[in-house]
Amino acid sequence: MLHPDYPIATERLLLRPATVADIDAMHAYKSRAEVCRYLPYAPMSRDEVAERVEGLWARTELTEVGQGLNLCVEEKASGRLLGDVVLFWRDAESRMGEIGYVFSPEAAGHGYATEAAAALLRLGFDGLSLHRVTARIDARNHASARVLDRLGMRREAVHLHDMWLENEWSDTVVYALLEDEWRAAGR
Ligand SMILES: CC(C)(COP(=O)(O)OP(=O)(O)OC[C@H]1O[C@@H](n2cnc3c(N)ncnc32)[C@H](O)[C@@H]1OP(=O)(O)O)[C@@H](O)C(=O)NCCC(=O)NCCS
Repeated sequence: MLHPDYPIATERLLLRPATVADIDAMHAYKSRAEVCRYLPYAPMSRDEVAERVEGLWARTELTEVGQGLNLCVEEKASGRLLGDVVLFWRDAESRMGEIGYVFSPEAAGHGYATEAAAALLRLGFDGLSLHRVTARIDARNHASARVLDRLGMRREAVHLHDMWLENEWSDTVVYALLEDEWRAAGR
């Protein structure tokens, strides 16, 4: 079970559940083809974003395995929405979780994704007592690979041709981090 107190603050960011006030800002980046290029979903319409903000992404806690906690990431100083992140609770007995993140191209190149994902790892390891956290990325997503490298996550596996994306096969790279490794790194 995970019941975070919001907002979750990092040095430069605030993480919190989405509200209807975020729909336009989320749609602005989730509707862009270059943002969704390596994501498991196509660019979204405003209605699709609104439906999720009012449904799946409205969750504020994790109470059962299989759930995902989606959080908006805003810049502390300006209140600007930069992107969103997700922590999935994959397995209770083995204490497995998975992280993901999507940021606006306007927010790129400042380390915001890395900072927000580090907060997600903290939520997973400290809040949810996870043993192992994974991230799965398209092998061509080099910017995302650099985020995971900066987080200290280990590149563990490459699954060849396990995704058919529109008109081509793509490979998935699996990254992972164990709780002991995370604590040893003093993060
Ligand atoms: C993946 C994604 C989040 C990476 O964004 P990003 O801006 O490269 O990542 P960060 O916000 O962590 O910024 C890191 C960059 O900022 C630079 N940077 C500048 N100031 C920094 C600071 N204070 N701290 C850390 N990094 C800083 C880093 O050097 C790094 O640049 P580099 O990768 O060229 O070396 C972004 O490309 C994205 O949202 N893509 C679309 C969605 C997607 O593919 N998501 C992943 C699906 S698994």
